[in-house]
Amino acid sequence: MNSIEKGSMKRGDFLRSLGLSTSTLMAYWCLGTTMTACGSSDDDPNPDPDPDPNPGTGTGISGTTTGTAINFTVDMTNSNNTKLKTNGGFIITGDVLVAKTTAGSYVALSKICTHEGNPVTYRPTSNDVFCQTHGSTFSIAGAVTNGPAAVALKTYTVTVSTDGNTLTVKA
Ligand code: FES
Repeated sequence: MNSIEKGSMKRGDFLRSLGLSTSTLMAYWCLGTTMTACGSSDDDPNPDPDPDPNPGTGTGISGTTTGTAINFTVDMTNSNNTKLKTNGGFIITGDVLVAKTTAGSYVALSKICTHEGNPVTYRPTSNDVFCQTHGSTFSIAGAVTNGPAAVALKTYTVTVSTDGNTLTVKA
């Protein structure tokens, strides 16, 4: 191969041009992909690197979800946010945990534990916020109810649109 048009050569073509065997190419291809074509049958077909069992995906959310100037809206018609239509459901987006409490009200709190900064989660069974790292618990108003955390979680104002289709969360 004497000349290569910029951007026209695929990876396999390039490797073949180097004289690599089919088995070498296959091994290289497997390393260079997500491994879905080469993984064993017991690979997790839907791996999720986020250990939180109930995270929001961020889809249908616009605005600032991290930092000190939290101000975002949640599209309640988006299928990724349907957890917020059920009492006891919650999502996490950016630095914020938004929950529909077991009583049906909306709350939003920092997801960052005030002890050592690990993510907290909402617990519908006890209607509180829990940090699994060292066991701190917080009320839905953010107050510490069990240490080692000693400082309350920051809370945010949640406003529901008249038609119920949008939540606005603000610092
Ligand atoms: S980081 Fe949350 S209790 Fe320690």
